[in-house]
Amino acid sequence: ATSLRGLAEAQNRYFGTALTDGDLNNSAETNIAGPQFDMVTPGNEMKWDTTEPSNGSYNFGPGDQILSWAQAHNDRVRGHNLVWHSQLPGWVNSLPQNQVQGAMEAHITTEATHYKGKLYAWDVVNEPFNEDGSLRQDVFDKAMGTNYIADAIRTAHAADPNAKLYLNDYNIEGENAKSDGMYNLAKSLLSQGVPLNGIGLESHFIVGQVPSTMQANMQRFAALGLDVAVTELDDRIQLPASSANLQQQAADYANIVKDCLAVSRCVGISQWGVDDGNSWIPGTFPGYGAATMYDQNFQPKPAYNSTVSAL
Ligand code: XIL
Repeated sequence: ATSLRGLAEAQNRYFGTALTDGDLNNSAETNIAGPQFDMVTPGNEMKWDTTEPSNGSYNFGPGDQILSWAQAHNDRVRGHNLVWHSQLPGWVNSLPQNQVQGAMEAHITTEATHYKGKLYAWDVVNEPFNEDGSLRQDVFDKAMGTNYIADAIRTAHAADPNAKLYLNDYNIEGENAKSDGMYNLAKSLLSQGVPLNGIGLESHFIVGQVPSTMQANMQRFAALGLDVAVTELDDRIQLPASSANLQQQAADYANIVKDCLAVSRCVGISQWGVDDGNSWIPGTFPGYGAATMYDQNFQPKPAYNSTVSAL
């Protein structure tokens, strides 16, 4: 039978999805995820608020469940994520500034050591940029300055030298001020010998708005010697979705696949979730939805067919 994973593997790529522990209990979702996808990103289960809810006390149970489901289905896993301003437990923000670096390094070392050798990649720092290409003034930047990113990547590398280490962000898919910021940071990290391996382009798009510069943008990161990946793809539509919207979405998905296949260092594409009914979009962007390749009844949409044709 046709599958996204089979078609991607034939091109030396992967096609992934994000799964939460809740999704693992929904057989309609897992019946799609097993055969169709070969890379899993935990939707929430490896984030700091889950894995270290209070200082020094760790909980890897939820993340371990995702990992073992993935292993049982011959999938690889993208660890997501080690350092992020969001879904960060309150205790980190309350630390005296001179304790933030130690807490960050301990968190990275403990979590990356727990999963050592089991993950394809880590999103080491997630969403570090403002829209204008400057770094967010979050607790890590305030305590350590820009250097926190190099320190985080080096710390992750020491704990799990074989995981591909990524920086991941949204609105960096096309060429713009924010992706310029990421490009300049990546270049600077590499020139300092920081073991950065890849850039994740989240790719939370609005239908009809996939940037025309996406392929060129991926290519400029690849030219630095980095992998690139589409890490959280969805393409939201203002509800109710018309058939014209669904056709445009199909064109969008096909364009993204073509862009990735045209860049040899584009290692794969992950959709954020399996189906429209369980996607994060309606909860976060009220009025929007229908953002994935599968509808509320778990039926493949035009975007699924266009993705298959483009792969
Ligand atoms: C989202 C999850 O899907 C939601 O369940 C959660 O409430 C918020 O986070 N960028 C990221 C992901 O890197 O971790 C986010 O996931 C979506 C945006």
